[in-house]
Amino acid sequence: MSTSSNLWPPSTLDDVEKLLNDLPKACVWDAKDICQWEGFWFPPAFVKSTITLRSRFQARDDDVFLASTMKTGTTWLKALSLCIMQNKSHQNSNEHDDVLTSGNPHFLVPIIETTIYYSKAPPVDIYDASAPRLLHTHLPYSMLPNSIKNSACKIVYITRNPKDNLISMWHFFNSLYRPNQDPYPIEKAFDCFCSGVHPFGPFFEHVVEYWQESQKRPQKILFVKYEELKSDPKGQVSKIAEFLGRPFADEKEVDEVLWRCSWGRLKNLEVNKSGNFLKDVPNKSLFRKGEIGDWKNYLTPEMKEQINQICCIKLEPFGLFL
Ligand code: A3P
Repeated sequence: MSTSSNLWPPSTLDDVEKLLNDLPKACVWDAKDICQWEGFWFPPAFVKSTITLRSRFQARDDDVFLASTMKTGTTWLKALSLCIMQNKSHQNSNEHDDVLTSGNPHFLVPIIETTIYYSKAPPVDIYDASAPRLLHTHLPYSMLPNSIKNSACKIVYITRNPKDNLISMWHFFNSLYRPNQDPYPIEKAFDCFCSGVHPFGPFFEHVVEYWQESQKRPQKILFVKYEELKSDPKGQVSKIAEFLGRPFADEKEVDEVLWRCSWGRLKNLEVNKSGNFLKDVPNKSLFRKGEIGDWKNYLTPEMKEQINQICCIKLEPFGLFL
């Protein structure tokens, strides 16, 4: 973007405002403004906070970052990683020792670029918390602060089938922006998704950046697919634990963590039934159905074909099949 690159890096608040004014704009679900920055779409407030983050944030070698675009299973990955990073085995302890009963996973594992927009301050100061820090980002790989890319910290990225991602996002935005109205027309949502004009989109470019980097540096980035986590939960969660240097002692531990993080249990925990984690995002909106293939109930054969074609062009040449 030629206009904004003249101002990069912005050094004053005026420069940031000027950069924001110059960015291409769109409106999601006829409700939420987003702008295109460095090839991806963000709510304008995220651009501001990401500028601050990139100038201030220093990753540490023992940090763990979870990364994802939206509606790909992030909440589940956060819960699993919390259990893995903290005391994995709660077999002999009571429910109150379980960190997941103390807050929504997004509150407990803050999104680094949006912590200032939380409805209450998360328990972790992202700049200052004691090690190891467990943090999350929706930023594409290319936009991460250099210290995350260059330090020895680890990244676990989660994604899912794009058709399910679209349907999950459609329901999510309908619940946020049209709670008492008809759903946003699925045809329009489909167009937004295919053209990448939605927060943290385009989905395909976001996914492929992390995929390629995970292929180059498998010790740095672990690439997790939601569908594999569903079909082989023990195998996948053990892989995550080993990647993070915290292998499970036995199968009982794996079972315990999977049960604690199961969709049905998380959905029904008091901390997830009420409250908001970001200012306008209710915790309960994060647990809809948790199934694979729900897109079949909403997308036409033509829509399915079109998304498959995009996968064929944008993902499959890199050996990525979703
Ligand atoms: P659906 O809308 O298809 O139900 P994110 O956490 O990135 O916002 O992704 C949300 C999706 O993950 C939702 O999918 C939600 O139901 C699903 N999900 C949340 N917690 C889950 C869990 N513990 N197990 C499986 N899926 C989960």
